[in-house]
Amino acid sequence: MNIAVRPLSTIRPFTPPVGDPGFGVYVHWPFCAAKCPYCDFNSHVRHQPVDQARYVAAFRRELASQAQRSSGQTVTSIFLGGGTPSLMEPATVAAILEAIASLWTVADGAEITLEANPSSVEAERFRGYRAAGVNRVSLGVQALNDPDLKRLGRLHDTTQALGAIRLAREIFPRLSFDLIYARPGQDVAAWEREIVQAIELAADHLSLYQLTIEEGTPFYALHRAGKLIVPDGELSADLYETTQQITRAHGLPAYEISNHAAPGAESRHNLTYWRYGLYAGVGPGAHGRLLGPDGARHAIANEKHPETWLKMVEDWDAGFVEDTPLEPHEQADELMLMGLRLVEGIDLKRWRALAGRDIDPEAEADLTGHGMIERLGPDRLRATPAGMLVLDAVVADLA
Ligand SMILES: C[S@@+](CC[C@H](N)C(=O)[O-])C[C@H]1O[C@@H](n2cnc3c(N)ncnc32)[C@H](O)[C@@H]1O
Ligand code: SF4
Repeated sequence: MNIAVRPLSTIRPFTPPVGDPGFGVYVHWPFCAAKCPYCDFNSHVRHQPVDQARYVAAFRRELASQAQRSSGQTVTSIFLGGGTPSLMEPATVAAILEAIASLWTVADGAEITLEANPSSVEAERFRGYRAAGVNRVSLGVQALNDPDLKRLGRLHDTTQALGAIRLAREIFPRLSFDLIYARPGQDVAAWEREIVQAIELAADHLSLYQLTIEEGTPFYALHRAGKLIVPDGELSADLYETTQQITRAHGLPAYEISNHAAPGAESRHNLTYWRYGLYAGVGPGAHGRLLGPDGARHAIANEKHPETWLKMVEDWDAGFVEDTPLEPHEQADELMLMGLRLVEGIDLKRWRALAGRDIDPEAEADLTGHGMIERLGPDRLRATPAGMLVLDAVVADLA
């Protein structure tokens, strides 16, 4: 393939300058070995082997359709997410990356991330992904103790998680891993110890997510029945504050609500979403934002059910169930919702041009007075850490 695999030492993470959203390609692998009881992502368990060659053929066809709609774009990042993409054979990953490189120009040193579960990690596969062009792995560690991993329904234990981190650090130039906090029974002291341990293990990026009780999941039913007690609002806020303080003190400050990085090592792909750039999304349930023939930004969403998506792409070259032009004011809302997640905030000039108006001065004064938002200059607005905790409400007041 023509994405060069460069020697590790020559790949330097960098953050594109504020204002440069880049262009990303997201590929969704919708299968997992087991469904975690808290998860509402588009992930499915299949008891028969998945025909990966058939999926590759479908990914190729859908990528080709989307490339037609984004010709002239240079791909700055590729993200293989899921589900559990580390259930893909390296040859599957190589074929997907080759297809992308044959359809778009891929920037030199583009960030190419694969999500991996510690239980599905084998050294050989990791080396195969690296040889295919993957230069960043995002590992779903979730917790660093066995009882909590069990309670979260994970298939791996701490030893496997540590082994996967070690192996990933050896093989890939960049590594991030995910932890979920605000777990049942977790207090601030226990979480503090765990973050410090995580920072010692981490490379240059960590994703630290507060446990969300998602409707329709087994955790939701247990929670409603009073059988799963999670930290209340006050304890959750303390856990969040602790997370911010410790990561900042150790050189991995938040650059987004749940994402922490050494300066320059932010996830370029996720920055594309949060800076409201354009991106193609392929695979079951993937979302995209591409320009339509009318020149407007379109919201594209794919069929979620894997086999239905597969059949749609085989029949029509595309598996979308939604392809809607967004009105400028809808784009302004999206830009604000995404951009206020970032510590760098949003460009108000861009927002005003879409919204066709200025921010309501009363709403701004009120939120500023309550310490929820602040100006970083005449044309840059951001949410404070307190505002990020209640971001939906802040955006609802402003948008
Ligand atoms: C879509 S998952 C894919 C990663 C991979 N399949 C795994 O679980 O190891 C991405 C991340 O979302 C987070 N996540 C999923 N459901 C969550 C929930 N209900 N609350 C908080 N974080 C969640 C987990 O940290 C997970 O690693
Ligand atoms: S492994 Fe990841 S994507 Fe799959 S069910 Fe668990 S959290 Fe969701």
